[in-house]
Amino acid sequence: MKEDTYKKGKKNIENANLEDYAKAARTFTWKDSRKYVDWTEGGLNAAYNAVDRHAQTWRKNKVALYWEDEAGNAKKYTFEELSLLSNQVGNVLKDFGVERGDRVFLFLPRIPELYFSFLGILKIGAIAGTLFSAFQEQALFDRLENSGAKVLLTTRELKPRVDAVKKKLPELKHILIVDEEPFAKSVENASDALRIAHTDPDDYAFMLYTSGTTGKPKGVVHSHRAILQEHMTAHWVLDLRDEDAYWCTADPGWVTGIAYEILGSWSNGVAALVYAGRFDPDRWYKLLDKYNISVWYTAPTAIRMLMAAGDSLIKKHNLSHLRHLCSVGEPLNPEAVRWSIKVFGMPFHDTWWQTETGAICIANYPSMDIKIGSMGKPVPGLTAAIVDDNGHELGVNKEGNIALKPKWPSMMHTIWRRPQKYKSYFTNGWYISGDRGMMDKDGYFWFIGRADDVIKTSGERVGPFEVESALVAHPSVVEAGVIGKPDTMRGEIIKAFVVLEKSVIEKTKTKPQLEKIKEELSLYVKKHLAGHAYPREIEFMDKLPKTRSGKIMRRILKAKELGLPIGDTSTLEDY
Ligand code: WT7
Repeated sequence: MKEDTYKKGKKNIENANLEDYAKAARTFTWKDSRKYVDWTEGGLNAAYNAVDRHAQTWRKNKVALYWEDEAGNAKKYTFEELSLLSNQVGNVLKDFGVERGDRVFLFLPRIPELYFSFLGILKIGAIAGTLFSAFQEQALFDRLENSGAKVLLTTRELKPRVDAVKKKLPELKHILIVDEEPFAKSVENASDALRIAHTDPDDYAFMLYTSGTTGKPKGVVHSHRAILQEHMTAHWVLDLRDEDAYWCTADPGWVTGIAYEILGSWSNGVAALVYAGRFDPDRWYKLLDKYNISVWYTAPTAIRMLMAAGDSLIKKHNLSHLRHLCSVGEPLNPEAVRWSIKVFGMPFHDTWWQTETGAICIANYPSMDIKIGSMGKPVPGLTAAIVDDNGHELGVNKEGNIALKPKWPSMMHTIWRRPQKYKSYFTNGWYISGDRGMMDKDGYFWFIGRADDVIKTSGERVGPFEVESALVAHPSVVEAGVIGKPDTMRGEIIKAFVVLEKSVIEKTKTKPQLEKIKEELSLYVKKHLAGHAYPREIEFMDKLPKTRSGKIMRRILKAKELGLPIGDTSTLEDY
């Protein structure tokens, strides 16, 4: 491997929140993180720590949230305003009978209500669940049913999707429309005083559904304790400070938007921008300029799209406030890092973690030299290693499973209603991430790929089983196998191999007819599962490669697609 190192200068090191990584890695323990948070009010409450405690200091009138939507509407909220609004939502939810431990789900676009409602839910000791606004009926149903959500907050626009499934959700008692009069009025009229629930660090705070290779999405549950690691990593890795204007481009439907757009970032008292609009290079640069963004946390697909949009666009904007860039969600290719050094005068810092890990686990730090292409080193207090399938540590430069030593503060507490699934993550005292990687002689971690069939498209995690199930629900489809196909822009795209119903095959002979069915199937998945999880490519097959027990072998489909040797086929059904 050709190593290309970006050296950090004296200025980077002296100014960094974490000046000496090596020392912290040697000496820091999670007990030390306690002095960064406040346990006096309500035990350890993550939302209290993110917002309310600042409202009692000089930060009271500091803007916490700058919000702007695609149409250019803009709003801002101080820490005190967020604190009071979240109190009001908390009181409204209590009036609806929400009690500690109840699941309250948010099916909302990135509007301000999402942020203060999330905080309000945690403050009354209930469990907040977020649902990405691109979800359609099937995805919504699976998550609301498994979680047993009692209350759902949504908008007028998204509500019809919920209406389509609510009859099958007996545990869902209330659907509240945040942009309609009754809810808005009840928040306005509610008391802005709230006694924060005295939450134990291990009480559940929020949950997120994520996909594996098989089965329905899993409800990953996090506790209030996660705030410790979210705070420390926002401090060390994102390097957040009071004078920063910070922009995390993630959606709270995914874990990054919760950990680094709400909890960890605000816990550091930083002013954060939320842009509730689609990706658009010119607009993004305008936002960096307009809000004087100094710290920016985004994802490789977006970076690659910015690269493709051309460098001349950048020169039209004043980006002189930028001082620190971070990336997450999929492999950050070396070209993207080199490009950012060229155009922004600084590298993107890769960070590695997962929905299950709850916070950044491996990262590049402002004060540490970057080996371009590497994800960096474990955060202080955490032990990471490369292990074999039996959970035995492997030596330097050996490919294996990226594994973490339990427990770390933001580690998931359970998989909701599936304790066996939770147990299956652990082998020989290690948490096995599902990612393959290696560690070099200097302790830097390098990402190699997924160990399973999970797809990462534009940084979003999609389970092939969910897409296959959506496809076979279509009357023309007999069976389907779904893989992630490498894509230079999106990392991977979803590709489906589909066996059509006999009668349909007989009727569709011409190319335009086949194309039409492909379009119909893509649209069908988009409409029933999720706007982002549809196959961009479909190929029709006579039959799919299967094991003798009838399991579709995605590995073979992928090898075929990539023109690679198909490997061991001894378990394969006659194919
Ligand atoms: C999976 C987790 C945690 C934030 C959003 C993703 C992939 C994550 C990196 C990275 C290469 C990465 C892994 C991981 N991933 N960060 N820096 N380099 N791959 O959370 O949706 O739970 O996905 O994203 O495959 O397992 P998630």
